[in-house]
Amino acid sequence: MEAIVLVQLVAAAALISSLIGGAAGEAVAQELRQGLSVAHDQSYSQFQPVLADPTGVFALGFLRVNSTMLDLAVVHLPSAFPLWRAIPDRPAPWSTAASLSFDGGLFLTDRAADKVLWSTAATSASAGDRAVLLNTSNLQIQSTGGSSSPDVVWQSFDYPSETIVQSQNFTSAATLHSFDRRFAMRLGSNYFGLYIEPPPSSGGVAAAMYFKHTAMEAKAQIVAGGGPTYARVEPDGFLAMYQREGPPADVLSFDTFNRGVRALRRMTLEPNGNLRAYYWNGARWALDYTAINDNDRCELPTTCGAYSVCAEPSGSCECLANATDGSGCAAAVPASVASSLCGTTGGEVGGLYWAVRRQGVEPVNKELLRSEQAASATDCEARCERNCSCWGAVYSNGTGVCYVMDYPAQLLVAGDDRKMGYFKIRSLEEEGTRGHGGGRASGVKAALLVVGVAVVVAAAAFGAYRVWDRRRRSAVDARRQIGAADDGLSPGPYKNLGSFSSVELTNSFRR
Ligand SMILES: *[C@@H]1O[C@H](CO)[C@@H](O)[C@H](O)[C@H]1NC(C)=O
Ligand SMILES: *[C@@H]1O[C@H](CO)[C@@H](O)[C@H](O)[C@H]1NC(C)=O
Ligand SMILES: *[C@@H]1O[C@H](CO)[C@@H](O)[C@H](O)[C@H]1NC(C)=O
Ligand SMILES: *[C@@H]1O[C@H](CO)[C@@H](O)[C@H](O)[C@H]1NC(C)=O
Ligand SMILES: *[C@@H]1O[C@H](CO)[C@@H](O)[C@H](O)[C@H]1NC(C)=O
Ligand SMILES: *[C@@H]1O[C@H](CO)[C@@H](O)[C@H](O)[C@H]1NC(C)=O
Repeated sequence: MEAIVLVQLVAAAALISSLIGGAAGEAVAQELRQGLSVAHDQSYSQFQPVLADPTGVFALGFLRVNSTMLDLAVVHLPSAFPLWRAIPDRPAPWSTAASLSFDGGLFLTDRAADKVLWSTAATSASAGDRAVLLNTSNLQIQSTGGSSSPDVVWQSFDYPSETIVQSQNFTSAATLHSFDRRFAMRLGSNYFGLYIEPPPSSGGVAAAMYFKHTAMEAKAQIVAGGGPTYARVEPDGFLAMYQREGPPADVLSFDTFNRGVRALRRMTLEPNGNLRAYYWNGARWALDYTAINDNDRCELPTTCGAYSVCAEPSGSCECLANATDGSGCAAAVPASVASSLCGTTGGEVGGLYWAVRRQGVEPVNKELLRSEQAASATDCEARCERNCSCWGAVYSNGTGVCYVMDYPAQLLVAGDDRKMGYFKIRSLEEEGTRGHGGGRASGVKAALLVVGVAVVVAAAAFGAYRVWDRRRRSAVDARRQIGAADDGLSPGPYKNLGSFSSVELTNSFRR
């Protein structure tokens, strides 16, 4: 029995050293100085640390993403969770002969192609003396100059990817993007919003806001001209909005609000479009806040796609009109919208789109839409029909309000019969038969196929990651016990969870 356990421990130890990498024995630097260059070493299977923070909880290094891609990332080591990524929208192939060098700024270079993949020089005019990773996970380039306190030339906190951590200021100059960049979180003057991002090629389509949180301004007012607002996850368990330091203009409390939980907190815009906050409880990220809860799943844009109606509370979806190509409720990703929407056919909607009227549906986010008074449903419809950037209009016969959608119809739910909807729907069939060339229609189908394959690949990658992560955790547990035994401590339950991470780092990298 004990022999089996020992074999398992040894196997686990071998597994973790193979996961973290082959180049054992190399200490991880705590600062990067002028002229330093580190090459990407493919023998590290998941993450190659280059720069560590003083506590050993975070590291900057080469991270494998989606099993085949390479990015530069700041990783929370105990969970292997990337808190910041350099090029999330265009990771390089894992096989890239990449180097990270410091030369007044950080440069991620593809040596084979002699190409800079990413650099801090793109967003910072001045040069620094060194790069350090702070114990907050903030990657900074500092200029020590002559003075005692260094100037910050650049910091990763100003360029979040899909996550903000405790103590990070989120300003209107920054945007959180879900990892596939379909969704975004932005800060407005006195609110923050979640948006469906239009695809890059769809000129004219607006970002659809599907969630908005407005500041209460109970303890501090936001004054016009009083400077930009910023938001920050606070240690007491809330997202605060400020215009200046002091009492916040808004407190969005998490489940552990004021419950004395002291732990690393993060807020992440997740792939399904939801915004969630977590804290690290020493073993896992414990959920602490969810912007759109499960009972309101029709408010989540990934529940039903474009051109469909979501049934509350089940979240089941029904196409707004008959699907045109048998692959869902028509393509949600129009290629060139502006021209097609106006078309050449005068009053009616141009060739590639057709209009559908539906009674008894309404936008679930109608409070977030532009609205105006209209005399009748016909009047409301006409405003949309003539407008090239309008994709739909819903008239409320009860109140006389006309809601206008400047993005392809989505986030629709069943409403009462006094709601009159008018929607422009992209027609793939029409496109093929109107002499624009079946090529484009089949191109779209090919694109859909690619997306489908990509989703399968992503799901597989996620599954593989989970397996890896689970194995990694059990390996770490095993190592922890070995480490305790090595130190002459009696094995047993680990009391000080706070030192968990440094144990892991020590075991993983110093061997
Ligand atoms: C992080 O560093 C600051 C000073 O740079 C220090 O005051 C703080 O206690 C450190 N926090 C942790 C968790 O080590
Ligand atoms: C966040 O903003 C406040 C107010 O401008 C500033 O004092 C603080 O240093 C900022 N924190 C970071 C990590 O940039
Ligand atoms: C992973 O792959 C999926 C599908 O190809 C893609 O949508 C996603 O952006 C990729 N994620 C990252 C982190 O690159
Ligand atoms: C959908 O198709 C059915 C059967 O072909 C037809 O009866 C119905 O009118 C169509 N509905 C719409 C909205 O086009
Ligand atoms: C809209 O309201 C008017 C006045 O209340 C009513 O006459 C009309 O029938 C309603 N139209 C619909 C389609 O419900
Ligand atoms: C057309 O619609 C867009 C978006 O809804 C709106 O901003 C614009 O003012 C409208 N134009 C006219 C002429 O109504």
